[in-house]
Amino acid sequence: MQTARTLVELRTMVNGWRAAGLRVALVPTMGALHAGHMRLVEEARRHADRVVASIFVNPLQFGANEDFGRYPRREQTDAAMLAEGGCDALWLPSVAVMYPKGSSTRVTVTGVSEGLCGAHRPGHFDGVATVVAKLFNQVAPHAAYFGEKDYQQLAVIRQMARDLNMNVEVAGVPTVREADGLALSSRNTYLSAEERARAAALPNALKAAKAAIEAGGPVGEALSNARQALLDAGFAAPDYVELRDAETLAPVARMGKRPARLLAAARIGQTRLIDNWPIGDGRK
Ligand code: PAF
Repeated sequence: MQTARTLVELRTMVNGWRAAGLRVALVPTMGALHAGHMRLVEEARRHADRVVASIFVNPLQFGANEDFGRYPRREQTDAAMLAEGGCDALWLPSVAVMYPKGSSTRVTVTGVSEGLCGAHRPGHFDGVATVVAKLFNQVAPHAAYFGEKDYQQLAVIRQMARDLNMNVEVAGVPTVREADGLALSSRNTYLSAEERARAAALPNALKAAKAAIEAGGPVGEALSNARQALLDAGFAAPDYVELRDAETLAPVARMGKRPARLLAAARIGQTRLIDNWPIGDGRK
C-alpha cells in the first residue's frame, strides 16, 4: 500500500490508474478504524480496481465543545489494517494540506442537514460536506463508500453530490454491529465497561420500535416507548428518536408505502451514540 501525504503524490498515482482505465474507489475515514470501516474497504474492493482510503480527523466538523482533541488517533495500526484489508493507497493529508492558510470556502447542504444531528451539532454537516467535497476533488474517485451508521451524513453527501453534479457514485454500506447489537463506532472506545454493557439498550430500543411500527402500531407510541427504554437503561434524555423518510429525511407520522428510517441519538455518560434502523423495506 502506498501512502500519499501531498496532493502531487496522490494525483500522480490516481491519474496513472485512471489513464490505464482502472476504476477507483474512495473510502473516507477519520481513522480509529474498526470492522465497520473494513466492510467499506471490502465493498469498495468488490466494485473497483483500486481502493484509496483517506484518514483525516477533520477539525471543521467538530463543535467547540466536542471531542476533536481526544478523538482516537492510531495512524500506524490503521495503516496496517488498511494494507491487510487490500487497500492500494492511503491518503493522509495534514490539516495544512487540507486547509491551507487563506482557504475560506464552505459547502452547506440545506434540507437534509437540518434537524436530527444537524440541530444538535451546529455546523457539523457543513464541515462534513466541505471535507468530503474536497476529498472527492482531491482523489477523483469513480465511487465513494460510506457507512449507513451515519445515515444523515450519507443523505447529506448524496444530496451534495447530486446538487453539485459531482461525478462520483455515493454508495451506502449497512451498519456492522457487535454481537449484542451495538453499532460499531470509533467513539465506543470512550465507554466504560459499565456504560458499554448498557449501551446495547440503544439498538434494542430501536429494534423494538421497528417491530411495533412494522406490526402496524402507532408511530408516536413506538417512539415514546423507545425514549423511555433509553432512560430506563441510564441514557440521558435522547437528543432525538424519530421516524423519517428514508430518502428525503422528512418526518413520518404514519407509516405509508415509502421506506422509512428510525433514527436516534442519545448520551450515555459523556459519550453521544447514534444509531438507525430501516423500516418497511423488508430489511431486518
Ligand atoms: O464518517 C466519517 O468518518 C467522517 O464524517 C467523514 C465522512 C470521513 C468526513 O470527515
